[in-house]
Amino acid sequence: MYSNPNGATAPLKKVTAPEVRARKGSGPPLAMVTAYDFTMARLLDEAGVDLLLVGDSLGMVVQGMSNTIPVTLDEMAYHTRAVARAAARAHVVADMPFMSYQVSSTQAVESAGKLLKDGAAESVKLEGGEDFAEHVWRIVRAGVPVMGHVGLMPQSVHALGGFKVQGRGHDAEEKVVADAKAIEEAGAFALVLEAIPPDLAERVTRAVSIPTIGIGAGPRCDGQVLVCTDLLGMNRGHSPKFAKRYAELGDAIVAATRRYVDEVQAGAFPAAEHTYKPNAGNGHGNGHLTAAAAAPGSGPRVLGTGTDGGGGGGGPSGTVVNLRH
Ligand code: KIV
Repeated sequence: MYSNPNGATAPLKKVTAPEVRARKGSGPPLAMVTAYDFTMARLLDEAGVDLLLVGDSLGMVVQGMSNTIPVTLDEMAYHTRAVARAAARAHVVADMPFMSYQVSSTQAVESAGKLLKDGAAESVKLEGGEDFAEHVWRIVRAGVPVMGHVGLMPQSVHALGGFKVQGRGHDAEEKVVADAKAIEEAGAFALVLEAIPPDLAERVTRAVSIPTIGIGAGPRCDGQVLVCTDLLGMNRGHSPKFAKRYAELGDAIVAATRRYVDEVQAGAFPAAEHTYKPNAGNGHGNGHLTAAAAAPGSGPRVLGTGTDGGGGGGGPSGTVVNLRH
């Protein structure tokens, strides 16, 4: 929901797969960002992204692993559900993780169904070209919009010998184009192009009738996608060449948390404005916390023993008060 200028609320219109498909050649380029949890998804949605991708990059970003291979379908459904709850406008795409679709097209349909039923995804994304066109076709026929993903396919990291730019050299270039066309013909509504030279990305973008969404594929795609922690500067490790940092939230988080630690250690947090009203009026408390509570290293806070300021029951002097409830 959003407030219009008169203060009334109206539901935001969701971005749909057919609308994404129709952005090919019309409207501004598509902006997609990854998200893995409710809080981040809500902020990105508020910022106006068209698509939220619950990427299997959560293996690295959320779980701290070195690649996406161990991510499970249940984990994808769990994170997608959290993101879907936050997406008032953005279209929610869930990645199909490694070995949730490669075995057979039947397995692919079942896994896609789970991401919609359990995860509340609005479409699914899978990596693969010609070899997986039949899987895409079957999922689409089952009523699930599919986003393709060609070029660098991180689930094939071991086969590729690392996370490397793809589509260099004539044969490799032709393969990327053939993969893209196969996925388009199978009925995908959009296509991620990852880590390919910009001229090849432009060629693919011209060759297919569905929007291409690039990551490390240069500016001539129909849209762009970034991993949220790259975009926001929360990544402490290696930052890929293509990842522009629009903020330095990692530094901001460390600085803010350092201040919190300092204030806790100095007894300056929580102050009165962060503290519930004490129990009062029982002759035991004066509505204020004792000086002991404010002294660094003075232990748990206790009610003071001065004159009481109001009615109601409170703990006896010296009782530890739980102010959380
Ligand atoms: O998993 C992911 O985040 C992705 C994007 C990099 C496109 O697939």
